[in-house]
Amino acid sequence: MSYYIGIDLGTSAAKFLLMDEKGAIVNVVSKSYPLEFPQPGWSQQNPQDWHAAMLEGIPELIAGVDASDIAGIGAGGQMHGLVVLDDQDEVIRPAILWNDGRTAAQVDYLNGVIGKEKLSELTANIAFAGFTAPKILWMKENEPENFKKISKIMLPKDYINYILTGVHACDYSDASGMLLLDVEHKCWSEEMLAICGVTKAQMPQLFESYDCIGMVKPEIAKALGLRENVKVAAGAGDNAAAAVGTGVVGEGGCNISLGTSGTVFISSQAFGVDPNNALHAFAHADGGYHLMGCMLSAASCNKWLMEDILATQDYAGEQAKIDEEKLGRNNVFFLPYLMGERSPINDTDARATFIGMSMDTSREDMTLAVLEGVAFAIRDSVEVARSLGIEISSSKICGGGAKSPLWKKIMANVLNVKLESPACEQGPGMGGAMLAMVACGAYESVQAACDAIVQTEAVLKPDAALSARYEAQYQKFKTIYPAVKAIFPVLR
Ligand code: XUL
Repeated sequence: MSYYIGIDLGTSAAKFLLMDEKGAIVNVVSKSYPLEFPQPGWSQQNPQDWHAAMLEGIPELIAGVDASDIAGIGAGGQMHGLVVLDDQDEVIRPAILWNDGRTAAQVDYLNGVIGKEKLSELTANIAFAGFTAPKILWMKENEPENFKKISKIMLPKDYINYILTGVHACDYSDASGMLLLDVEHKCWSEEMLAICGVTKAQMPQLFESYDCIGMVKPEIAKALGLRENVKVAAGAGDNAAAAVGTGVVGEGGCNISLGTSGTVFISSQAFGVDPNNALHAFAHADGGYHLMGCMLSAASCNKWLMEDILATQDYAGEQAKIDEEKLGRNNVFFLPYLMGERSPINDTDARATFIGMSMDTSREDMTLAVLEGVAFAIRDSVEVARSLGIEISSSKICGGGAKSPLWKKIMANVLNVKLESPACEQGPGMGGAMLAMVACGAYESVQAACDAIVQTEAVLKPDAALSARYEAQYQKFKTIYPAVKAIFPVLR
């Protein structure tokens, strides 16, 4: 029996998953690490913590199997994070993450001075604060000494792949989120590199996600308890990897991820761009493309309310107290912009807001408002896709938030879509392991791996009366941000 390791290099933890050649998940191990918020809206992490998580996590993961049966490793990683190494391969500064909002000035420069049209022509996308190119410019302007030291630029999962193989690689799905890739033609945009003051020599070599980039190096194989000729797949951005894990490949599938971020991911075989660039136009891990809307705080809003504000870990207990009669009838609304927002409003100044409380507002109403606010914000991206003529009547759903039956019910009815839960909700890790299978030749394509492995466990249909109530609630939600938008910069 051959086994494959999938890595989900997330924002709060790295999850390691062991899959057998038939697609059964044999073990899962999670190792968490800290996230720093050095200033409001800034977000960074130490790449060395990812490395340490891997050194601890993989030996634990594979303890029950014969190491000589492990054939491959593939990772899905948090996207857009800027990881920079010097010429000694030392990490120069903490990685600036996907949900970091420090680059407002650089985003204004790129979108305003270089121009959105030009950016879209070069990269199929415009600048958003979390993307990698504005962070490179930020470093150039704010940390010139560090900027001069840059020898290699990479994304989070590519740092892990570099440690494993010594190959400076990146796949097209993750590279798409750097704003440095010509997404349509799958090559670095020389013009964008020049705009950011970097060279091709500093950039990783590009691969398809299911390509093998190299073998695990002897010294790291020893440290991890692996044999030396374990193949490493290029891997993917976590959303593309999650879409593989839920079987959303090829034409027209949709996956919603309720993780730290919340994403709507629409796969397509052909390259296409949202004419307003509200949705990202990225490459997919199956060799095709996708459109994606990403909200910066999804399950993290609920985590914040539960753990930081209500000081509880009992998420299910808090949700059990919510009277289902209250769904679609809550007077309290929540704007989920704890880290500013990306899709579709692209506003780094935006902040979270509760609105509509009265003397009878309860703890349950506020908990419900958070779950609903996230669903309404996901609907904002779904509406952008619908406005492009994309029909979304059903979707896969994955991520930590999708474990909540209540939240799934709210999502299905706010979006008015049928939600299909895969049998395994380990989206990115499962996708990573499946990419490793393709890289090792166990399947001839990502589609073939999905056809053989992914199973749907449950289907949740929207209820006509409830989705009508949520339609009316969504129309109210939509008026809140435009009404308060001007206040946020004043509060900075
Ligand atoms: C996608 C994005 C997030 C991160 C989360 O554009 O920024 O979904 O990938 O890990």
